[in-house]
Amino acid sequence: MVRNCREVKVREVRFLGAWEEPGDFVELTLENPDWDGYRPGQFAMLRPKHWGLELSWGRPFSISRADADSVTFFFQVVGRGTARLSRLKPDDEVIIWGPLGNGFSAPAETPTLLLAGGMGIAPFRGYVEKHPTPEALRLVFAHRASIGSYPYQLLAEAIPAEAVHEKSPDDLPMIIERIQNEVRGAKDGLVLACGPLPFLKTVQQAAREHKVRAELSLERSMACGVGACLGCVCKDGQNKHVQVCARGPVFKSDDVQF
Ligand SMILES: Cc1cc2nc3c(=O)[nH]c(=O)nc-3n(C[C@H](O)[C@H](O)[C@H](O)COP(=O)(O)OP(=O)(O)OC[C@H]3O[C@@H](n4cnc5c(N)ncnc54)[C@H](O)[C@@H]3O)c2cc1C
Ligand code: FES
Repeated sequence: MVRNCREVKVREVRFLGAWEEPGDFVELTLENPDWDGYRPGQFAMLRPKHWGLELSWGRPFSISRADADSVTFFFQVVGRGTARLSRLKPDDEVIIWGPLGNGFSAPAETPTLLLAGGMGIAPFRGYVEKHPTPEALRLVFAHRASIGSYPYQLLAEAIPAEAVHEKSPDDLPMIIERIQNEVRGAKDGLVLACGPLPFLKTVQQAAREHKVRAELSLERSMACGVGACLGCVCKDGQNKHVQVCARGPVFKSDDVQF
């Protein structure tokens, strides 16, 4: 079952550190904002206090992992907000609101295939850590940048994992076929997917064709993150407009249109 979050907390927390890899990949750690917990697949909105009016909205990021002391995000620098987040300094304060949205299902004992594309690997770190039966999990990770840029190794030490490298556009048909085959092979279990839109579309089509239970985590540009601005609307399986931040970001595969 995809579950919804009811409580939103807005907090100011300290920046604790950042780890950077070539290719503008950043693992950002903040003080834990006094959350009781979170469900993997949920996200948070981040807005450093010193951002001026030119960056008036926060930016959404999947919660990669969290413990009693800290919460970690993993992102790629793609624009002004992520560039400035990558340059935070010790003791800078960040306004954080979350945990937001629902989260992935985590049924114990069910064979569960994690399909991650690029930055879509972020929520699976915490998912594996918190899962009641991690021995039921397997990861297939499709990526373009070098494997060392992602937290792949940490996951590969915890569960069976395979990485598929898209070195050039010529590799794309091979990656698509691999994803289709992986989904087909997961017929008696559950598939969880997070990644770019074409990646999610491939998973959705394969899940439909082979009648496989799947959940997809969607990324949309967001402003409020809490269902107040209509900035993140998409259509659900009944052709109704829904807010990704409030109804998602995780949708049952048949319950969302791209
Ligand atoms: C629920 C959710 C979880 C996310 N989790 C992660 C994560 O774990 N790691 C990560 O690297 N990114 C994640 N994103 C995407 C991230 O929010 C954007 O990359 C970020 O907001 C870009 O901000 P910016 O100011 O640097 O870029 P901008 O200057 O705003 O835009 C730069 C480029 O990024 C694109 N962009 C902006 N916002 C988004 C968005 N929300 N989704 C996709 N593309 C966007 C723009 O179209 C543009 O091409 C997530 C988005 C959502 C909605
Ligand atoms: S981001 Fe404002 S409604 Fe979803």
